[in-house]
Amino acid sequence: MKKENRDRILIFGSSGHTGVVIDIVERESKFDILGLIDPHRDPNEEFMGYKVIGNEEELQEIVLTHDVKGGIIAIGDNWLRKTVRDKILQNCPDFRFLACIHPSAQIGKDVAIGKGTVVMPGVSVNSGCVVHEHCILNTNSSLDHDSVMGDFSSLAPGATLGGNVGVGNFSVVSMGANVIHGKEIGEHSLIGAGSLVNKNVGDCSVWYGVPAKFVRRRQPGERYL
Ligand SMILES: CC(C)(COP(=O)(O)OP(=O)(O)OC[C@H]1O[C@@H](n2cnc3c(N)ncnc32)[C@H](O)[C@@H]1OP(=O)(O)O)[C@@H](O)C(=O)NCCC(=O)NCCS
Repeated sequence: MKKENRDRILIFGSSGHTGVVIDIVERESKFDILGLIDPHRDPNEEFMGYKVIGNEEELQEIVLTHDVKGGIIAIGDNWLRKTVRDKILQNCPDFRFLACIHPSAQIGKDVAIGKGTVVMPGVSVNSGCVVHEHCILNTNSSLDHDSVMGDFSSLAPGATLGGNVGVGNFSVVSMGANVIHGKEIGEHSLIGAGSLVNKNVGDCSVWYGVPAKFVRRRQPGERYL
């Protein structure tokens, strides 16, 4: 059977998280993956059936040569994803970032999903939610109605947010954590795995436990994975 002509895109990264993103793009069948961009691998090295075809410095040339229509940064760490986004835009200011949504995800009415955001298998996003740019909604996580995720924020597998929850830019809700309806989590904060958040959480802090308690301050960009 003749393969239909689909727009070609690039995937940035080549980690386990990248593998999941590749799988989502393949299942969506909207784009063809031209190859991977990763400065930490040798050119032509293969990952999940795709070749590493260069690094961010070579991006402009790759985009023009192959008529690339956009790409997805498939890097799990929120801060690292932002540094790669900045590098891409330095080298290729008009580069277009794309969202990808696994076909098994349930996306409700009047939901906005920002560019560069990745929605994994089994995710539920109920009506009125806004998920801004370059977020990760990991496997089986859920956002109830009217919740908002800031740019570069993430939900780990199985994290559950009630209605009207806010998660600030770069913040992380770790595996299996629950956030009660109406609570606000500031920017650059981290909620530990398995926690129950029943109070507002400020910026740049680590909270965990049931119920979650403030544990310590945290700097923007501090590693957590
Ligand atoms: C919160 C987290 C970053 C660790 O924070 P930390 O302050 O560096 O904690 P440490 O590992 O130094 O542990 C300090 C203490 O807190 C406890 N602790 C750590 N995380 C905890 C959590 N989520 N809930 C309850 N207690 C926790 C540890 O058991 C340890 O207790 P101890 O002193 O009695 O031995 C980590 O536990 C976590 O939740 N990571 C996120 C995992 C995740 O979701 N990954 C996503 C994969 S896609």
